[in-house]
Amino acid sequence: MGGDFAPSADTDERLSALIQSHPDAIKSPFALYQHMLSRGAYRWGETVVVSRMEDVRKILWDHKNYSNRAHAIGSRPDAFRARLRPHELQAFDELTAFEELIISRTDGDQHQRLRAIVHRAFNPQAIATLEELVGVFTRQLFDDMVASGATDIASAVTRNLPVMMICALLNVPQSEAPLIQGWSARIGKNRGQGVVADLMDAHDALMEFRDYVREKIELLRLDPKSTNLVSTLMGASDEERLSEDELVAMVLILLFAGADTTKALLGNGTHVFLSNPDQWRLFLADSQGRLGGATDELIRYIAPVQTLWRVTTAPVRIQDLEVEPGTTILLLMGAANRDPAVFEEPDRFDITREESRPHVSFGFGTHFCLGTHLAQMECRAYFGELATRFPEVKLTQDPDSVTFGGNIQFRTVTGLQVALGAGRSG
Ligand code: HEM
Repeated sequence: MGGDFAPSADTDERLSALIQSHPDAIKSPFALYQHMLSRGAYRWGETVVVSRMEDVRKILWDHKNYSNRAHAIGSRPDAFRARLRPHELQAFDELTAFEELIISRTDGDQHQRLRAIVHRAFNPQAIATLEELVGVFTRQLFDDMVASGATDIASAVTRNLPVMMICALLNVPQSEAPLIQGWSARIGKNRGQGVVADLMDAHDALMEFRDYVREKIELLRLDPKSTNLVSTLMGASDEERLSEDELVAMVLILLFAGADTTKALLGNGTHVFLSNPDQWRLFLADSQGRLGGATDELIRYIAPVQTLWRVTTAPVRIQDLEVEPGTTILLLMGAANRDPAVFEEPDRFDITREESRPHVSFGFGTHFCLGTHLAQMECRAYFGELATRFPEVKLTQDPDSVTFGGNIQFRTVTGLQVALGAGRSG
């Protein structure tokens, strides 16, 4: 099927609602995804929207014709910049200059260099420490939930576990997690939707966060025996050494890439599992044996990173669309994971599905996620504990009444009322 359909007001409005993170659009983007999949590549103002798996994979793989610097260059940021007043433009440029140092927003040699450094920091020793901690933290969060009588599993457990893990990874005191979550939410609101107030707030939050990380780095410098990930990044040999701003950018991406994604996976995953009691029962029947398959299917179905941005650096053809260089591309990852050309009955959650694997939830190609192991480890620890300790867990609210917050990239349940049932000793 070709892609060059005439733009439709209805499609444009629905895409606008999604990118503006309208709560209804964020809650249920899936009908729009199927619509986009049936239309193919779609020109939406200055942006081209791509949803089919085949196209998404091709674009993520092709770093010759597509750049990751879509926040800085190309049709969408150009259109936004043109609307800004001088002091807003200054904030935009400062934010963009800092973002140029973030690994996932770099290309070519700069990207390869940053990736080699961070890759080494995720060494087997660091991962083994985390493996131990994930079980301890999961049990502790459930213990606290039971002791306090809390009923919202999202605020008691799923929102906290990923941040605790990242704090441990980065050697940040757990008591400072709320502070980090605050900055993360403010910076995360500015995800290409072109809202000036969000831009200004993200800029201020980034400056505060930068000062905070710089202070932490100073403290670590005074503790040469420290072996955590940031120390490893700081201690890289001369030719690999990160500048101070690069180090701040690395801490920032690890925090955001590691926390927002996994929060969505655990929180939305609980919602999905408990809204599909047949699948929960199937899981309980052999939770150890099914843990791997269930994790893969959850990651496909939820697509914790719903969207990615790219910008063309050369003329390209996407299906029937001739796309000029400098065009912003919006990749609907959540749609690609539900492409009927790849997955049978894609909107069905099925933990026995054999073909969950080819999902693109962790990306594809040169920027493939560096935290897959950690994310899967958290998912297994959390659902493993829930199944063995609270097999009778149930939603106590209508699944349709659950609301979602976040933004076009990370949609996450705002709360999830459950009854844990008679727990087995943990
Ligand atoms: C369910 C959880 C997660 C999902 C779905 C996820 C997804 C992704 C995706 C889609 C990308 C590719 C971005 C692109 O191509 O532009 C990515 C990159 C990345 N992820 Fe994850 N991620 C998860 C967890 C984590 C964790 C726990 C960490 C580390 C603490 C992490 C660290 C990174 C880093 C550093 C990159 C950048 C890699 C690069 O640009 O070369 N992620 N992730």
